[in-house]
Amino acid sequence: MSQVIDVDAFTRFEAAGWDRVRDGYHRFFGPITARAADPLLDAARVGAGTRVLDVATGPGYLAARAAARGAAVVGTDIAPEILALARALHPGIEFRPADAHRLSFADASFDAVVAGFLLPHLGDHQAAVAELARVLEPGGRMALSTWDAPERVAVLGAVVAAVAEAGAQPPPDLPPGPPFFRFSDDAALAALLRGAGLVDVEVATHAFTHRVASIDALWDGVIGGTVRTAALVNRQTPSMRQRIRAAFDRIASHYQTPDGLDLPVSVKLASGRRPA
Ligand SMILES: C[S@@+](CC[C@H](N)C(=O)[O-])C[C@H]1O[C@@H](n2cnc3c(N)ncnc32)[C@H](O)[C@@H]1O
Repeated sequence: MSQVIDVDAFTRFEAAGWDRVRDGYHRFFGPITARAADPLLDAARVGAGTRVLDVATGPGYLAARAAARGAAVVGTDIAPEILALARALHPGIEFRPADAHRLSFADASFDAVVAGFLLPHLGDHQAAVAELARVLEPGGRMALSTWDAPERVAVLGAVVAAVAEAGAQPPPDLPPGPPFFRFSDDAALAALLRGAGLVDVEVATHAFTHRVASIDALWDGVIGGTVRTAALVNRQTPSMRQRIRAAFDRIASHYQTPDGLDLPVSVKLASGRRPA
């Protein structure tokens, strides 16, 4: 039976969680997600003078790359502490609070709208992507990134596989949300953008290897830099947590090299155009 999702409760849980893991995310995931920034900006045709909205900006990686291209960029996020970090890191860029489900911007106010790794954190994808399309100028482009399937993203997938292998269930006090990897599927991702009225929709894959110093560093990075995944582990009983960790150590050891762990990362990049 599918669970009823309370979008506001899920969004509050995400916002509070992101504020809490802000520094861990920036340290561990920043060097990973920043590698998808330029391909995403290319997909949105961001260049000098483009008016860009970066939704779910986090510490502002995409916003900063867009500004470096000479774009006029505004970054938004739902988590106040994340925005404080973005402002501290990039003092020349405007950052404003906004929930992707209800953006506080006028219709058609941007030439390009980008969102890096927002999709796994949304309670209502259709509503949010429609909202991103609303603020897009006719003829303007949207580009969204999300994680590929967990078996192709070992940097996250090792914990996901360990949770599954240990048989851990989502704790009852977690507000239910949509499946984290729902839009790893090309057809589902393309349909999401088309459903918001976009045309010329394309989905591409950007894959690379990321090195992490050790198995402990990977565990600490994921548990200290994620919201839902960390909650799924932290809210288990001590014995279940031990089972998850034992499975994780074995799974992660497959990526061991003499210089650390070499972990595959694969990112889906979807883009489309609002009809003129
Ligand atoms: C995985 S981080 C991505 C950060 C950055 N874009 C990147 O590429 O690394 C997800 C971000 O989405 C933000 N977020 C979650 N739900 C949101 C919502 N409903 N509206 C806007 N931002 C949201 C979080 O606060 C967090 O900064």
